Amino acid sequence: MADKLIIFDTTLRDGEQSPGASMTKDEKIRIAKQLERMKVDVIEAGFAAASPGDFESIKAIASIIKDSTVCSLSRANDRDIARAAEALQAAQRKRIHTFIATSPLHMEKKLRMTPDQVLEQAIQAVRYARNFTDDVEFSPEDGSRSDMDFLCRVLEAVIKEGATTINFADTVGYAVPELYGNMLKSLRERIPNSDKAVWSVHCHNDLGMAVANSLAGVMIGGARQIECTINGLGERAGNTALEEIVMAVRTRKDYFDLQLGIDISQIVPASKLVSQITGFAVQPNKAVVGANAFAHASGIHQDGILKARDTYEIMRAEDVGWSANKLVLGKLSGRNAFKQRLEELGIALESETEVNAAFARFKELADRKSDIFDEDILALVSDEEHAHNNDAFHYVSLSQRSETGELPYAKVVFTADGKEVTCEGNGNGPVDAIVNAIDSKVQSGAELLLFSVNAITTGTQSQGEVTMRLSKAGRIVNGVGADPDIVVASAKAYLSALNKLQSKTEKLNPQI
Ligand code: KIV
Ligand code: ZN
Repeated sequence: MADKLIIFDTTLRDGEQSPGASMTKDEKIRIAKQLERMKVDVIEAGFAAASPGDFESIKAIASIIKDSTVCSLSRANDRDIARAAEALQAAQRKRIHTFIATSPLHMEKKLRMTPDQVLEQAIQAVRYARNFTDDVEFSPEDGSRSDMDFLCRVLEAVIKEGATTINFADTVGYAVPELYGNMLKSLRERIPNSDKAVWSVHCHNDLGMAVANSLAGVMIGGARQIECTINGLGERAGNTALEEIVMAVRTRKDYFDLQLGIDISQIVPASKLVSQITGFAVQPNKAVVGANAFAHASGIHQDGILKARDTYEIMRAEDVGWSANKLVLGKLSGRNAFKQRLEELGIALESETEVNAAFARFKELADRKSDIFDEDILALVSDEEHAHNNDAFHYVSLSQRSETGELPYAKVVFTADGKEVTCEGNGNGPVDAIVNAIDSKVQSGAELLLFSVNAITTGTQSQGEVTMRLSKAGRIVNGVGADPDIVVASAKAYLSALNKLQSKTEKLNPQI
């Protein structure tokens, strides 16, 4: 019987550390449900001590998710661990993941601790965490740049204290596959009680080798857990991409010979959901989930595919969920059909009032766009969630004029804390005019770092999804808005980013 490879998803924790990728509680719940539907083994739902918002999100996910283990990160101290345990209380399966840096550089410069102090703190942390659950993971942060003798001392000691998973972290993406795999192999060989823990890999993608390093950790080092994120989301160059790991192990079963529990038909829906919520578009040539991942343009390839698919295809697009882009509803669809489709997409709106409001938006959209796809429904529900949360600003309407030789003009109506505001502005283009109009009232003082438009589905009727990334006083946020009119989508995206800037979610970075 082949060994099981545990898929540990950290989109909601390490992925969220990516600047601008912060998510609301409701957004995290939607992603967690999708991860459960995809049958990931462990969901790292956040870092409970980072902020009250993180704590509440983990708590909510712990009470909703039944099939996957729910995990919280915590630094190696009692306060963080107790907070993680409290957030995870309702979970059917819970894991506390505690970590401390072990490299000479991090210990000396960041922690200002001696190796003996770090060893002692790691032991205490695992001992304390075991009071709350039998499932405790320990990570030596910056493990790949740590001294091997010291790592052996620390890891042997934490396994003795009851750590059940040891996660060998390549925190700064410094590792190369063969060396990383061999380090792990050597640790497992040298540590006398190494067989008492599952070994895990956690790689960052700074040199573009996160997936290769993780797989080398499995094949050379004997790891049986991979930590990864949807679309490879994460700080700097990101984390190991879940979809690439899963499809590599599955497609090359002849080589890896490992069992996976993942329902691969949920991969593309998960990718689209994460991209839509975070505003991080997926590059077209991204493996498995990029729009071009299965597109064959050259005549020779197309000819080959028509004769026999496997001439140029090693995976089938429909197997990973690419068929999701199908017509589901239209103008004549009723409330029941709409509600049923929401359920099929795993979207549970909290009350009938919310379903009614979403249905009203659906009808408005169906009046302007004849074919409504799953992606349209996902965007619509996101809009609906924003309308119902405590956001300060909500879009109402706009009119806009641009003509060759004329300075573009926009008039925007929005609500600020419930009061209707009308504003006007000019700009060097329609989007600039909208931003200037809104800023004439809001005076955000934010800098626009990124503006992007993507068609949600195919065809010129498609809704445009606009992402705007704003920066102010060191904080970076992404706002997303969707509409068949991309100028309206831009206004929605700008207001959504302003809402995020306004929310005072001060978060600790776990590595600090
Ligand atoms: O990259 C890292 O070291 C981490 C740890 C907290 C596991 O994310
Ligand atoms: Zn990390």
